[in-house]
Amino acid sequence: MNSEQLASNQPLRTFDESIFEKVVDDLVSKGFSIQENGLPDFITDALLTRQRCIADEEYKRAGIGRAFNYQKVDTVRGDEICWITGSTPEGALWLDWCAAMQHFINRSLFMGLFSFESHFACYEPGKFYKRHVDAFKGQGNRVLSLVAYLNDNWKNEDGGELVLYADSEDRKGTRVLPKKGTFVVFLSEDFPHEVLPATRTRHSVAGWFRVNGSVNDNIDPPR
Ligand code: OGA
Ligand code: MN
Repeated sequence: MNSEQLASNQPLRTFDESIFEKVVDDLVSKGFSIQENGLPDFITDALLTRQRCIADEEYKRAGIGRAFNYQKVDTVRGDEICWITGSTPEGALWLDWCAAMQHFINRSLFMGLFSFESHFACYEPGKFYKRHVDAFKGQGNRVLSLVAYLNDNWKNEDGGELVLYADSEDRKGTRVLPKKGTFVVFLSEDFPHEVLPATRTRHSVAGWFRVNGSVNDNIDPPR
């Protein structure tokens, strides 16, 4: 690492930034970005390699809320998750690519994105995630959500769409099929969204860019 990279908190690998530019343009004009075939193939391949290695017992039932408020509620979400720590080369590559996106967005939009957390998610057929927001105004330090999809040959009739709503009033939304190579970025507080049930097992990676919420002795995030 050279001193310039240290000083600017720059990712260690360099990536083609043209896709990040499209994301930034969309964020400015509408607050969300849907990129079909936007994931570089080598990132998709790395994630798929890793995802196929995750044993059933590594997936944990997903819960709602943090720390003391954490609950598992079947009627709200039915996915199973596995956090990405960067301990495998594939996980590290994904985190690096996301760090490059974070850096690009900070440079372009001054969002002050500070950290990133991410997990694999698996929805068995029939499972769903009811309409929700990823962060609440004023509370959330998740500011930007990212979801990437890993499902080969996914058809309309397979279901499992992400539905992204423009605001709390919107009932129609924008539907995104969870096709391999598609990724979506949106402002976490502004877009309610849901995952519809699918007829096939649905694989994705979800992640959140956060701002630093640490105050005095309260280390963020709570563990
Ligand atoms: C989430 C989420 C969307 C998706 O994990 O919070 O909304 O399409 N995921 O998997
Ligand atoms: Mn969500």
